[in-house]
This record gives sequence, C-alpha cells and structure tokens, in this order.
Amino acid sequence: MITIFYISISGNTRAFVKRLQEYAAQQQTADPTAPTIELTEIDDNTLPQTVTVPFFAFVPTYLEGGNGVDNGDQEILTESLREYIDYQQNADYCLGIVGSGNKNFNRQYCLTAQQYAEQFNTQVLADYELRGTAADVKRVYEILRQRHAEG
Ligand SMILES: Cc1cc2nc3c(=O)[nH]c(=O)nc-3n(C[C@H](O)[C@H](O)[C@H](O)COP(=O)(O)O)c2cc1C
Repeated sequence: MITIFYISISGNTRAFVKRLQEYAAQQQTADPTAPTIELTEIDDNTLPQTVTVPFFAFVPTYLEGGNGVDNGDQEILTESLREYIDYQQNADYCLGIVGSGNKNFNRQYCLTAQQYAEQFNTQVLADYELRGTAADVKRVYEILRQRHAEG
C-alpha cells in the first residue's frame, strides 16, 4: 500500500491523486503485486499526527508574485502540509515529493515542491501540470511504485 498525503486548494491535486488511486486499483486487478494507494488530504483544519509509515507528499505551487529567482518565492496556502511533514519525525518517512503547478509561471513552475524537498532533505520525484493527463497518471504511478519498493 502506497500512502500519499496531499493538499489541494482548487481541486486539481485532489482530482489527480483520485485518478492515481483508481489507476492503482486497476493495476492490482491485473497484477496482485501492484500496490494500491491510500490518500489523506491535509488542510488548514488538520492537526498534525505522528506518521510511522513511508509516504509521498503531493503539493501544488502557490507563490506570491515575482519570478521565483530573486523575488516572489513566498509560499502561500500550502503551509499546512509543510507543517504536517515537519511534525515530530514525520519527515524521516517521506519517500519524496510530487509537485504540480502551471508552466505559465516559468521558473517558478513547481517551486514549492522543490522547496519542500530541500527543507525535508528528500527529492522531487515527478511533476505534472494542473490536473495532469492520463500519461502523467501512469508515469507518476510507476515512479511511486519503484520508489516505494526501494523503501
Ligand atoms: C495565486 C496562485 C499562485 C500560483 N503560483 C504558482 C507558481 O508560482 N508556480 C506554479 O507552477 N504554479 C502556480 N500556480 C498554479 C497552481 O499550482 C495550479 O493551478 C495547481 O494545479 C493548483 O492545485 P490545486 O487545484 O490542487 O490547489 C498558482 C496558482 C494560483 C491561484
């Protein structure tokens, strides 16, 4: 079982991880070794809890203005997931971050995921735009599956 924590302000990330979960279930029907996916949504009302299983974090990018290089890299709206991962030893269980955003933001594309990875000493494993495509779902699932198997 693959555990995912995510945050979604306008619903794109939620839609993506739900499709990922459906894809995983289909994969398992054909191949019993394919792991299914468990989802936990984090929002401003979520109290951080101690995590004791390996997990992935999915985070969209919300930055205030600027170009992400010399200004405008201030994270907004996604801090509750950051606080959740930062709680107690939770970050030790983070297998990686999957980022999303919008390429119109140029160099700020998916910057929040990169900032999380840096803070929690982990990697950005994949990124996708907005709600992602069917190809993104398949690609991201394979990446998670492999990373999860590595432990
Ligand atoms: C105020 C605001 C700021 C944003 N800033 C960025 C950004 O800096 N970089 C980026 O790649 N996407 C940025 N986005 C795009 C979102 O990350 C993208 O729409 C994402 O799919 C939203 O995910 P959600 O619907 O799960 O909340 C921004 C969107 C908004 C509304």
